[in-house]
Amino acid sequence: MNSDNVSIRVDNISKCYRIGLKGKIHDSIGGALLDVVKSPLTNYKKYRSLYNFKDADSDGNGNGNEDIIWALKEVSLEIKKGQVLGIIGRNGAGKSTLLKILSRITEPSSGSAEIRGRVSSILEVGTGFHPELTGRDNIYLNGAILGMKKREIDKSFDKIVDFSGIEKFIDTPVKWYSSGMKVRLAFAVAAHLQPEILIIDEVLAVGDAEFQNKCLDKMNTITENEGRTVLFVSHNMGAIIQLCPYSIMLHNGKITANGSSKEVVDKYLSTIFQPVNNLDLRNVPVRSGDGRLRFVSAQLKLENGEYTSTPIAGHPIDIVLDFESQQRLHKVKFIMTIFNQMGIAVTSFNVDSIGRYFNLPDGTGRIICRIPKLPLPLGQYKISVAASDDIGELDWVPTACIFNVHTSNFYNTPFSPSMRYSTALVEHQWELSKVSQMVK
Ligand SMILES: Nc1ncnc2c1ncn2[C@@H]1O[C@H](COP(=O)(O)OP(=O)(O)O)[C@@H](O)[C@H]1O
Ligand SMILES: [Mg+2]
Repeated sequence: MNSDNVSIRVDNISKCYRIGLKGKIHDSIGGALLDVVKSPLTNYKKYRSLYNFKDADSDGNGNGNEDIIWALKEVSLEIKKGQVLGIIGRNGAGKSTLLKILSRITEPSSGSAEIRGRVSSILEVGTGFHPELTGRDNIYLNGAILGMKKREIDKSFDKIVDFSGIEKFIDTPVKWYSSGMKVRLAFAVAAHLQPEILIIDEVLAVGDAEFQNKCLDKMNTITENEGRTVLFVSHNMGAIIQLCPYSIMLHNGKITANGSSKEVVDKYLSTIFQPVNNLDLRNVPVRSGDGRLRFVSAQLKLENGEYTSTPIAGHPIDIVLDFESQQRLHKVKFIMTIFNQMGIAVTSFNVDSIGRYFNLPDGTGRIICRIPKLPLPLGQYKISVAASDDIGELDWVPTACIFNVHTSNFYNTPFSPSMRYSTALVEHQWELSKVSQMVK
């Protein structure tokens, strides 16, 4: 590393696993931690090269070999000191493998990683702690690994226990903790001890909403004020955008996007959420209801009669539901809900709101819901559809239509607030009143 402000440099790292060896020795943190404890701590602050295992355990290419999985393929990356980097990607993309390599829990098959600074990681639940030791001892162990003196750890101890909310169990061996408790303690330790590099893998997926918010708040102060290098893996796109100015996307072990979090998140969402117009709903894998009525399709229709999967915010749109039924039905109710990419229900349309229900002959039918001015910020959405009558639920399809709003004319300008600040668009006016000049 020649430049002084680089915190992590990953140079052409690949990692392969042989299937069948999953979960073997190296993935146990206990051993890894003890290894670290045994080694001298004094040089942690020094610039170090942690790895250079060329072809340590891979057989070269492994292509075409069914028993080999390439979790990472030739990944190179440079992270500056104080940078907060988001890492996103589908399950199995290689995110955890990258973080484990940077945390020295596993070794790359080839390539090298250089890390400058003391690292604290919260990886998958259960790693990071020695199971036989109590919560208290683990806090001290983690501090020692970070090269802190006992007195320094003493100072943070109460804050850690307080943040974690597990005071009562602090003298219980960690192996008896629930996964939620482990995550609480792990986060508290990592956030309050003073690592120069903080590595966080999906912890926010575990634990209750209140604790998650507490973690996000704490991350906010860490990333904004403390100048630490942070690597943050999450499936919570809102948190990624809020906490990380930049992100990378991993896909099948490779970096496939690298840039501002907003761009990378957009790209990620467009890969997982391919807008599909006119899904055939006859064969959707997930649905419920007694089947007396079946939705056949859900589509968005423009004023000119064309169908679209990219409606424009602010323009009129019809949501058109086609269905079929083998029998006559009375007083049928329709409900649709629009969800954004965070899974938040943005709004719901329910015929209860107009107090009108529908008597349907057997055969096919179509019902249209008219929206005069689509009030959705830029982003991707899905619609769930449901129908019921007095007897019960007829049909429910949680993903009936997926669409993408990437153009807005809601305010008669191209402006659209970012999804970070809004889940729906509201018509409004601004007025300035009472302007007077200060008397000097
Ligand atoms: N210990 C292991 N043994 C075998 N395969 C593994 C092991 N750990 C991860 N893998 C495989 O490596 C790939 C990347 O996994 P991972 O890094 O956990 O992805 P992510 O964290 O992005 O979901 C996956 O195909 C996964 O099944
Ligand atoms: Mg993972």
